[in-house]
Amino acid sequence: MLIRPKPESATDIVDDFALARLWLRTITFYRPTGFIDQDRPSLHIDHHRTFLNSTRCMQPTPENIIALYRQRGTEIYGDEKVTQAEHAIQSAVLAERQGAVDSQIVAALLHDIGHILGEDKLPASDLENLDDGHENRAYHWLCEHFGREVADPIRLHVAAKRYLCTVTPDYCETLSPTSYKSYLDQGGPMSEAELQEFRQEPFFEQAIALRRWDDQAKDSEMVIPDISFFSERLQASLDRSRSVR
Ligand SMILES: [Fe+2]
Repeated sequence: MLIRPKPESATDIVDDFALARLWLRTITFYRPTGFIDQDRPSLHIDHHRTFLNSTRCMQPTPENIIALYRQRGTEIYGDEKVTQAEHAIQSAVLAERQGAVDSQIVAALLHDIGHILGEDKLPASDLENLDDGHENRAYHWLCEHFGREVADPIRLHVAAKRYLCTVTPDYCETLSPTSYKSYLDQGGPMSEAELQEFRQEPFFEQAIALRRWDDQAKDSEMVIPDISFFSERLQASLDRSRSVR
């Protein structure tokens, strides 16, 4: 529910204006679909506050993003055998190997940044419900600085798993136990209406591709470069987004 206590200081009032702007952008400019417009943690005002704080703390530069992964990416990715940073890098390497364009490689690298961007930790240890809304958490920040070609596949990568498992039931069997549990917590199979809505997303195909890299990027044996390998791609993506604004 979007209710918070009365502001107590000028800073709070400024924050409230900023939060209101973010909320309006959530429901207007970015035209979120049913995949975001659900009663999920990522739409709670606390998550907008976290996003706002994160934005203040972290200007979008390759150096800052790399530092974030070096600092926070050492956490294990769920109960997989790789860290958050290894999972991110593996996803980007798989995208690059398939000849993906820069925006897709950057989307693959940053697709789980919602897990580590922010001052508080997402409730990853809540085994009762693994739907933490991380795909929405950094959406505004990504959209503002990298554009929709990066932000939208990331926003949709959870829905893409539901889509793939619905249209190709065998896909479910390729998921790790944790990923299968989160699939169920995130809604499980899509209805016919959801399938149609998802197919109409402008970045539908990019989201599907990202999802496949995501699900493969859990290989503890994979040889990967340092995250700084992607520095130039991050900068190019930021420059490109700025140039079309
Ligand atoms: Fe992931």
